[in-house]
Amino acid sequence: MQNYSEVMREYVENHGTALIVAFAAGASVLALRRWLAGGVCRSKARLDGKTVLITGANTGIGKETALDMAKRGARVILACRDMTRAHIAADEIRQQSGNGNVVVKKLDLSSLQSVRDLAKDVEANEDRLDILINNAGVMMCPKWTTEDGFEMQFGVNHLGHFLLTNCLLDLLKKSAPSRIVIVSSLAHERGRIHFDDINLDKDYDRQISYRQSKLANVLFCRELATRLEGTGVTTYSLHPGVIRTELGRHFFPTIALWKRIIFMPFYYMIKSPWEGAQTTIYCAVDESLENTSGLYYSDCAPKTPAPQALDDAAAKKLWDVSASMVGLA
Ligand SMILES: *[C@@H]1O[C@H](CO)[C@@H](O)[C@H](O)[C@H]1NC(C)=O
Repeated sequence: MQNYSEVMREYVENHGTALIVAFAAGASVLALRRWLAGGVCRSKARLDGKTVLITGANTGIGKETALDMAKRGARVILACRDMTRAHIAADEIRQQSGNGNVVVKKLDLSSLQSVRDLAKDVEANEDRLDILINNAGVMMCPKWTTEDGFEMQFGVNHLGHFLLTNCLLDLLKKSAPSRIVIVSSLAHERGRIHFDDINLDKDYDRQISYRQSKLANVLFCRELATRLEGTGVTTYSLHPGVIRTELGRHFFPTIALWKRIIFMPFYYMIKSPWEGAQTTIYCAVDESLENTSGLYYSDCAPKTPAPQALDDAAAKKLWDVSASMVGLA
């Protein structure tokens, strides 16, 4: 009877070529994956005594970002819709970071009332706010509407954060130098702002709507930087990389099964949440960005966004439209 090592040796002799091919394929996948992962935030900046608020922080890159902020010593506020999942995430972050100063607050970005309630709570109960990270987002959902009747992706990804940011500006200014980080996406490059039909009532398309909301993020960051000049509050928008988080929950199920099977290997090559969080972390803490505001970043480096994202007249118009939609005018 053969023992185990003999079986193994025989197997290697008979299948040597196949093993080499498999090994080479594995190594190339890992190399490609590293290449795709792009930049890593190398800043060692500490955040002791500072407060960070991050939206949608109970999963994916938001949770990774929150964990990083906690490890740097910040008081971290997770502003989330699902309180059960948020409390579980907060427990994990406290354990993994050894920082007990992680709290959960209720925020539903699809409700202006919820946004105002959270902002009021923060204003009343927090001494300071050093970093606001607008991370939460919905992607490629069907035609849904927010509590206030806005199309869901524009309503949550842009309008909810627009109101939240404006409501927290006084506290951010008081805590200056402070930062506002807005998670956008490469998808903005194919977007445009449909000023004549901003809720896409005439012809809803989940991709067109997503791209519009992500372009709105970059334009908002730009206009906000102009308005905050001289206050010590700086703004940053970014592309986090393609990330296999639950953002895909409305996208993956929409494609055919055979495509899902073909895409499986790629699924494992795209960025993990840790890798995906790096550019957000970089914008939030990197010392080299302290005097920079209003720009767009990808892979932990500045990147020129699409031409329509550099249109200052559109940025201003979008501000006015948004202000009137959320009742800030
Ligand atoms: C930012 O500006 C201040 C004041 O001018 C300067 O001391 C500091 O070195 C600048 N930081 C960077 C990273 O350029």
